[in-house]
Amino acid sequence: MSQGRELNKAELLAVLDWYRAAGVDLAVGEDPVDRFAQPAPAPSAAQLLRQAAAAPAQPPPPAAAAITGDPAEARRLAASASTLDELKKVLEAYDGCSLKFRATQLVFADGNPEAEIMLIGEAPGAEEDRQGKPFVGRSGQLLDRMLGAIGLDRTKVYIVNTVPWRPPGNRTPTPEEMELCLPFLNRQVELVAPKLVMTLGGPAMQTVFKTTAGIIKMRGRWQDVAIGTHQVGALPTLHPAYLLRNPAAKQQAWSDLLSLKVKMDELGLG
Ligand code: URA
Repeated sequence: MSQGRELNKAELLAVLDWYRAAGVDLAVGEDPVDRFAQPAPAPSAAQLLRQAAAAPAQPPPPAAAAITGDPAEARRLAASASTLDELKKVLEAYDGCSLKFRATQLVFADGNPEAEIMLIGEAPGAEEDRQGKPFVGRSGQLLDRMLGAIGLDRTKVYIVNTVPWRPPGNRTPTPEEMELCLPFLNRQVELVAPKLVMTLGGPAMQTVFKTTAGIIKMRGRWQDVAIGTHQVGALPTLHPAYLLRNPAAKQQAWSDLLSLKVKMDELGLG
């Protein structure tokens, strides 16, 4: 309401646009809500159908069991995809990870699916959520400049995130969200079969290297890792968003990029 009258559509859109420009990207109410005290949402029709198909003789599980997906189901669905297109369709239909319901759209990947170098980031941010592509915001622009410095661009790399939906308010994905999305990341890596992987930032490094160690300690150290069934040399480096906040750390990222370039030259890539 404004001056005692309802806002018209154009005015409402202008207000929304103003909120977005001011950085408001999450709608919350004015009164506190105890979400733990609320009943679990009823399972979706797709979840009920899947449950019925999987266990026709069983009574449906209590609603609480449907809040988060089942990692075994995520693994089965991911394994069922034999191409990247199929995997994208599987993810578009997947309702097991609640991040999906707060995001605008799936952010599957960008770059060249035939690339020999794969970059793994953390999670889409606001701009990625809007455009449906990873690393297209400010940190993506810095990433492009970093790649350019060693002769790479998006035609020569394939870029994904550990989770393909934007966490609300850009928070770090929870361990449960990462666990549910991991089979899809693993399958994506298996299907692209890169010769080298570079992880960007702590959460991606911890997921790929299966460690709780910190990124400052781990960055710059190559290791052979198994991502799904794909064995590959992987290098952790700092996240471009961290570099934007800590420009002095660009020196370390530059040293990691040079290390990637040396490895590419050794393997005749790039
Ligand atoms: N940060 C990430 O980790 N991934 C993106 O896609 C964008 C920002």
